[in-house]
Amino acid sequence: MSPDMKKTAQKFVIANWKMHGNFEQNQALLNAYVSKLNGLKDTQVVVCVPYPYLAQAQSLLQGTDIAWGAQNLAKNENGPFTGEVSAQMLRDFGCEYVILGHSERATAYCESDENIAQKFMVAKQHGITPILCVGETLIEREAGVMELKVGKQLDTIIDLYGADVFNDAIVSYEPIWAIGTGLAASPEQAKAMHKFIFDKLTQANGAQKNSVKILYGGSVNPQNALQLFAVENIDGGLIGKCSLSAQEFEGICQAAESSVG
Ligand code: PGA
Repeated sequence: MSPDMKKTAQKFVIANWKMHGNFEQNQALLNAYVSKLNGLKDTQVVVCVPYPYLAQAQSLLQGTDIAWGAQNLAKNENGPFTGEVSAQMLRDFGCEYVILGHSERATAYCESDENIAQKFMVAKQHGITPILCVGETLIEREAGVMELKVGKQLDTIIDLYGADVFNDAIVSYEPIWAIGTGLAASPEQAKAMHKFIFDKLTQANGAQKNSVKILYGGSVNPQNALQLFAVENIDGGLIGKCSLSAQEFEGICQAAESSVG
């Protein structure tokens, strides 16, 4: 896939390794990704690794069809922010994508929607594609306020920067109750929320079809991937646990590939 084709890939499958792996395991996993997944026609594969392994991902993936990214970035350009990593530093390692607002981070490190919105804009300004995670808790779903919650997460960005910033960005719908639980959203539940997100961003953008991609994340596996990826407005998946197995991840990427056309 040439760089231009990446932008027009119909499906995205993005690995979120979270805080897993070590140098040796990563090498085996990245080499397996390349041997199994290089040359997919309609699917862009991306792997988001922990910061220290960006150089390793760059050296093993450069020149392949697989892109790499990070799992967070600082909202500041530089300065006295101990432990933070800036967008420019990510660019130095060829990083093209960054996961933002994942619920595991937002909860553990008290990240507000405003904070995440600022990071989203910084990523865009540096030519890094933001992968914005949105989603509701089980309590919010049971109370029927899931669209309110997701709507607010999107509105925070729209109100600050306008809906245009979602062009060429990625939004991942991640019901918090589905992450790491083995209990994925049903195709009906996902369909309803993806339609809500799509309609909201399209309307906010003056009814012009937004070039945003909307992924689903939360217990995607090789068995349920095809059914989920066939749903209208689901443009692929953000994959946690199953991305740590080359075989399972391949099954999910092949499902994305066969869901096209
Ligand atoms: P999971 O994680 O695939 O392990 O449920 C998804 C995510 O956190 O993005």
